[in-house]
Amino acid sequence: MNWHETHALVTGGTRGIGLELVTQLLARGAKVTATGTTDSSLAEARDRLPQVTWLPLNQADSSSRESFMQALPAQGISLVIHNAGVQQMRDWTKPQAEVAFDTSSEMAVNFVGPAELTRLLLPRLSREKSARIVFVTSGLALAPKSSSPVYCASKAAVRSFAKSLRAQVNQAGWRILIQEALPPLVDTDMTRGRGKGKISAATAASQILTGVAKGRAEIDVGATALLRFILRLSPALGERIMIGR
Ligand SMILES: NC(=O)c1ccc[n+]([C@@H]2O[C@H](COP(=O)([O-])OP(=O)(O)OC[C@H]3O[C@@H](n4cnc5c(N)ncnc54)[C@H](OP(=O)(O)O)[C@@H]3O)[C@@H](O)[C@H]2O)c1
Repeated sequence: MNWHETHALVTGGTRGIGLELVTQLLARGAKVTATGTTDSSLAEARDRLPQVTWLPLNQADSSSRESFMQALPAQGISLVIHNAGVQQMRDWTKPQAEVAFDTSSEMAVNFVGPAELTRLLLPRLSREKSARIVFVTSGLALAPKSSSPVYCASKAAVRSFAKSLRAQVNQAGWRILIQEALPPLVDTDMTRGRGKGKISAATAASQILTGVAKGRAEIDVGATALLRFILRLSPALGERIMIGR
């Protein structure tokens, strides 16, 4: 993969893993377009990395997706990394507990957004010499934990979507590689104040980009490789380890 000939689009590039992906893509020589949701997150990102084209996108919202598509260059993007996401910790035995997102909003950001953006992007990507679409899911797409049921379901949904899409794209003979990156717990705003043994966003981004360059269909980041190994030996044990997290 020639990074110098790559124009990458990274959703949710303003913070966390996305910001690291943007930074490391630039360091590898790629041209980068990235997104954020608010004027303030975009202004901060623009100050930090002015060489990136920063665009507003709320991927849960269809009119925002349409405006975003109009702002994107008509051609040239050859790598799309669907990174943006949210996670709601929610105890369903306490339905009265206040939460920031309801079920449909969390699914809209994490699943509907990437799926619908993919639908809008595919005609452009199919005209490129070659292209890649990377879905950032999670080790939780392999086995859920108890504390964020909708998040785990949304990541499993994206994983399933990516598998079907890969088959369709291959059947169509399009030169688009569909890849999935499965990070473990990463130290970002999303996991602030909870969880042990987190890897840094820089490590996660580096492993994702190495997997992207190698053309891996599924990129196990950090301890996700161990989880997959345990799930292969004993699905029940793997699920038991994860559900308590
Ligand atoms: N952290 C982990 O432990 C972990 C583990 C496995 C997988 N992941 C996945 O990795 C990805 C990045 O996670 P992270 O931890 O880096 O998250 P993060 O630090 O919370 O950053 C989230 C990013 O998504 C953007 N975003 C939020 N809502 C959006 C929306 N409605 N439309 C478009 N963009 C939106 C944010 O933009 P603003 O800055 O404008 O708000 C921000 O750039 C997510 O898909 C997450 O599920 C994370």
